Amino acid sequence: MSVHPQADQPSSNRKPVSLATLRKAKETGEKLTMLTCYDYSFAKAMDAAGVDLLLIGDSLGMVVQGHDSTLPVTLEDISYHTACVARAKPAAMVVADMPWGSYQVSPEQAYESAAQLMAVGAQMVKLEGGAWLGPTVRFLTERGIPVCAHLGLTPQSVHTLGGYKVQGRGAAGDQLIADAKALQDAGAAIVLVELIPTPLGKRLEEALQVPTIGIGAGPHTTGQVLVLHDILDVTPGKKARFVKNYLAQAGSVQAAFAAFVQEVKSGAYPQPEHGFSE
Ligand code: KIV
Repeated sequence: MSVHPQADQPSSNRKPVSLATLRKAKETGEKLTMLTCYDYSFAKAMDAAGVDLLLIGDSLGMVVQGHDSTLPVTLEDISYHTACVARAKPAAMVVADMPWGSYQVSPEQAYESAAQLMAVGAQMVKLEGGAWLGPTVRFLTERGIPVCAHLGLTPQSVHTLGGYKVQGRGAAGDQLIADAKALQDAGAAIVLVELIPTPLGKRLEEALQVPTIGIGAGPHTTGQVLVLHDILDVTPGKKARFVKNYLAQAGSVQAAFAAFVQEVKSGAYPQPEHGFSE
C-alpha cells in the first residue's frame, strides 16, 4: 500500500476557502464548485484540483453503505467520515450533512449534533428543510456554526415527497423562494437547491444575497455540486439527467476533478440538457 508522502501537510497551497470567499464569489459572479467527499484520499485529490467545498453528504448512506435512502445514516457515521476528510487539511471548506433525526426536534438538539461535527473538523453544517428551520439556523449561526440550507428535493423527506422528483414547479416555486429568503434572513451562509426547474434556479439566484449551490438546478446558481460516485461513473444503472461522467473524458480521477472545476468555473457545465423545465 502506498502511504501519502505528506499526510500531515495541507493538500495544496491554495488560500483556505472562507465565508468571505463564498460571499465574494456571489459578488463577482465567480462560480463555486462543490463535490461530495467521504474520505481522506479523495479529499486530497479534490483539494489539489481546486474544488471549493467538500460535502460529507448523507448520500454516503447510499453510495458507501449501500442503503436505499439516506435515512439510516447516523451522526456517528457523518462524524467518522468528516474526520477522515478533515485529516486531509484541505483549503476547501469542509461541509458536513446533519443526518436525519439529528436536528429536527429543537435548536438545542441541532446544536448538540452540529457541535459534534464541528469538533471533528466540519466548518459548516447542512440541514434539509424550509422556513420552519429558521429558528434552528439562527440558533446555530449565533453560536458560531455556519449553516448551509438545503431546499428543493430534500432526500431525507423522500417518503413525504413521494420519490426523488423535480420540486418547485408552479406555485411551489414561490414557496421555495420564500423559504430560501427566510433561511437567509435567519443566517444561512449558503442555500443548496436540488432538482428544481432551471428558471426557478435563476429566480432563486437573483432573489438571494447569499450564494446558491445547485444540483439539477440549471446553470444560474452561484455554484454547482455533484456526487463523487456520479462524476466517476461508479454507480451502475440509469443516471439522473444532471449527472456528467467526468472520468470518461479525463482519463484519471485527478483529471476528472480538474475537469469538473474547469467546466463549472467556465460555465461549460451544466448545459441546457442537464436541467429541468418548468
Ligand atoms: O448528501 C448529499 O450528497 C447531498 C447532495 C446531493 C447535495 O446532499
